[in-house]
Amino acid sequence: MRVLEAMDVTKDYEEGHERVAVLHGVSLALERGEIVALEGPSGSGKTTLLSILGCILTASSGRVVVDGEPVDPANRSRLPEIRRRSIGFVFQQFNLFPSLTAVENVEYALNVKGAKGAAARSEAERVLDAVGLSDRRDFLPRDLSGGQKQRIAIARALAGRAPILLADEPTANLDSHIGAQILEMFRSLAKKENRALFIVTHDPKVRSISDRVLQIRDGRVAAGESETVGAALAAARGRGQAPPLPMTRSSAAL
Ligand SMILES: Nc1ncnc2c1ncn2[C@@H]1O[C@H](COP(=O)(O)OP(=O)(O)O)[C@@H](O)[C@H]1O
Ligand SMILES: [Mg+2]
Repeated sequence: MRVLEAMDVTKDYEEGHERVAVLHGVSLALERGEIVALEGPSGSGKTTLLSILGCILTASSGRVVVDGEPVDPANRSRLPEIRRRSIGFVFQQFNLFPSLTAVENVEYALNVKGAKGAAARSEAERVLDAVGLSDRRDFLPRDLSGGQKQRIAIARALAGRAPILLADEPTANLDSHIGAQILEMFRSLAKKENRALFIVTHDPKVRSISDRVLQIRDGRVAAGESETVGAALAAARGRGQAPPLPMTRSSAAL
């Protein structure tokens, strides 16, 4: 089932008297349960695209459908509601509230989504358990490692069962081996709960947990050369086999 779709999306920013075109006609679609990586260099429009898909910004033109609902300027007043219902976000900088504990950070996000009291508390505990942080529930972010903070941020995105998870460079502030562990965990949680996971990144590790790889260059998105590598790795993992390497030139980067 298709859960997220962008068709010919453009985005221009106004800078003084100038308009800067960042996205030049992006089309993509995500199915429920699918993990897709979007690779692109800094400044290529990844965060802009993610913000449009996540109902934080609207496109200048084109069409976006989130969880069955069109997202366009005419529908602007619905955006917060669509975002709360359908989107879980994970950010590069974790974006936790420093004065709230781990469990309170997750609960607060649930409160914003409309869950209150005991229901919010038990859902927060469920997702903290899922990311393996039950024993850190009463810790403040400053007393947690980067990897633990990102796991809380993932728990917060999972809380409330939004069908679409969007992650903006989630490993950029983590050591490489911690980043790899977090990605594996993120993959298995998304798959287990049949969420669509879309990760924008320039970390090549993300490829290895993805079913498909897209690339953004000059404001346009295309299937990456490594697409078949990501799919083959996923298939091999599903069959419990070792990945069939080497396959293509780009598999060297894995
Ligand atoms: N609010 C904004 N106003 C003007 N230009 C912006 C704004 N946000 C991003 N840009 C520009 O758009 C381009 C793409 O930015 P961004 O989407 O953040 O790329 P990425 O996440 O791939 O690094 C960059 O050139 C950036 O300077
Ligand atoms: Mg960015």
